[in-house]
Amino acid sequence: MEAYYKGLKKNICDCDVKNNLDKVDEEKNYFDILNTILDTVNEWLVVTDDKGIITMMSRAYKEFLKDPNPEGKHVTEVIENTRLHKVLETGVREVGEIQEIKGNRMIAMRIPIIKDGKVIGAVGKGMFKDISDFMTLSKKINRLEKELEYYKGELNKEKTAKYSFEHIVGSGKKITDIKKMAQKIAKTDSNVLILGESGTGKELLAHSIHNASNRRFGPFIRINCAAIPSELLESELFGYDEGAFTGAKKGGKKGKFELANGGTILLDEIGDMSMHMQAKLLRVIQEKEVERLGGNKRISLDVRIIASTNMDLEKLVKEKKFREDLYYRLNVITIKLPPLRERKEDIEELANALRIKVSNRLGIYVEGISSEALRYLKAYDWPGNIRELENVIERAINLLDSDLIIQPKHLPKRLRQNKKISYLDTKKTLKDIIEEIEKNVIRECLEKTNGNKNKAAKILGLSRTGLYKKLERYNIK
Ligand SMILES: Nc1ncnc2c1ncn2[C@@H]1O[C@H](COP(=O)(O)OP(=O)(O)OP(=O)(O)O)[C@@H](O)[C@H]1O
Ligand SMILES: [Mg+2]
Repeated sequence: MEAYYKGLKKNICDCDVKNNLDKVDEEKNYFDILNTILDTVNEWLVVTDDKGIITMMSRAYKEFLKDPNPEGKHVTEVIENTRLHKVLETGVREVGEIQEIKGNRMIAMRIPIIKDGKVIGAVGKGMFKDISDFMTLSKKINRLEKELEYYKGELNKEKTAKYSFEHIVGSGKKITDIKKMAQKIAKTDSNVLILGESGTGKELLAHSIHNASNRRFGPFIRINCAAIPSELLESELFGYDEGAFTGAKKGGKKGKFELANGGTILLDEIGDMSMHMQAKLLRVIQEKEVERLGGNKRISLDVRIIASTNMDLEKLVKEKKFREDLYYRLNVITIKLPPLRERKEDIEELANALRIKVSNRLGIYVEGISSEALRYLKAYDWPGNIRELENVIERAINLLDSDLIIQPKHLPKRLRQNKKISYLDTKKTLKDIIEEIEKNVIRECLEKTNGNKNKAAKILGLSRTGLYKKLERYNIK
C-alpha cells in the first residue's frame, strides 16, 4: 500500500497538480487511521477490492489466521470457506451465515461495497468468532425475553384462551378422531369433562374447544382447584362482597364464575375439589346463578363448564369421594385423551413440532432430530406424556452447544438405557441399520474413553488404523 501511494504521488508530481497531491495526502491519512482502527479493535475484519484481492485485514484476524501479510493475496487463498468473492459477484450481503474456519465455527457477515451502482469491493467480518459465544449471548437475551413473555402471559392468562385446534399436533387416528369430535361439540353449550393422564394436553384441548365455540369472543377463565386451599377456593370461585370477612377487599371481588360470564370456565384438577365445595358447585350449576360470599344479590350466569382431571373420577364416585350427581352434571360429554405411549405414531411429529416451538422460545437454532435420537424417543414410554417430551426436547436443545441436530447424547440417560429400542425402519436396509449401530457404538466408546483412540480401538477389538478408517467413514470427530 505504501508503494501504491508513493507511485500515485509521483504520477501526480509529474503532472504538477498541487491540489491533487493534497488529496492523496488526505487519503493516505484516512488509510492510516483506518489501519490503526483495524489493528486496535479485537475484531476479525477483512476488506477486498473488486477482484477479491485483500487490501486490509485487522491484526486480530491476521493472528488467528497465522498470516502476517495477507494483503495482495486473493481472499480464497487466505480464508477458508470464505464467500466474499461470491458477494463480489452477486452484490448481495450475507449476514449471520455460519462459516467453518480452522475447525472453528464462526458467524460471518459479508457486505459488498457499492459505488455508483458498481461493486468495488467487499468487507467481511466475524460477527461472533465462535458460534458458542453467539449461543451464550443468544441464551442470555432469550432468557430475558422469556421472562418478559412470562409476565405478559401472566397478565393475560386469566382471561383468554391461548390455543386452538391447530396447536394440537398429531395426525394419528386416535388424536384425529378426538379433534373431530371436540370440534363438533365445541359448537354446543354442553358441559365437557376432559380426562387423561398428566401432560396429555387436557388444558390445550379446553382452550381449543373455547376458541372454536360461539363463546370465543367471551372470556376463558381457568382455575386450578388443586392449587388453591379449599378455604380460599370458595371466594375465588364465587367472589365476595365488601365486609364479607376481615381482610376482605374494599368494594369486594368478583369470583371466577362471574368473570367467566358469557364465556367458558375451566375447572382444572376437579378431582381434588373437597366435598363441601362440590356441593356448592352443584348448586351453581343447577341454578345457573351465583351469590357472592357475604352478599345477598344473585347474579345469573351464562357460563359453559369444562372440567378436567387426571384422576379416575368414576372410581372416586364409587369410593364416595366425588359426588355422583355432580359427576353426571359435568360429564355430559366426556373426552378421554390417550397417554403418549398409546399414540406412538405421533411421536415424530410431536417431537419436531416441540423442537420448533422450544427453539423459537429459547432463540436457539436447531436443524432437526437425528434418526437415532428419534428411535430412543419412540421406544420410551413417556409416563409424563407430552409435557415430559417437551422437557426432554428443551433439555436437549440447551445441551446442543454448537451441534445443530439433536443426537442421542443430548437425551437423558433414562431414555438411552431403554432396552426395548427397535431398529426396524421401513426406509432402511439391514446394511444401513448395521452401519448406524456401528457408528453409535464407536461414538459411545470414544465418549467413555474421553476421546482416547488407542483405548477405544482396544475395547472394540480393532487395530488403530481400522478404527481411524471407520472414524473417517462415519465422519466422527
Ligand atoms: N397434541 C399436542 N400438540 C402439541 N403440544 C401439546 C399437545 N398436547 C400437549 N401439548 C403440550 O404439552 C404440555 C402439557 O399439556 P397440558 O398442560 O394441556 O396437559 P394437561 O393434560 O393439562 O396436564 P396436567 O394434567 O399435568 O395439568 C403443554 O406445554 C402443551 O402445550
Ligand atoms: Mg392441566
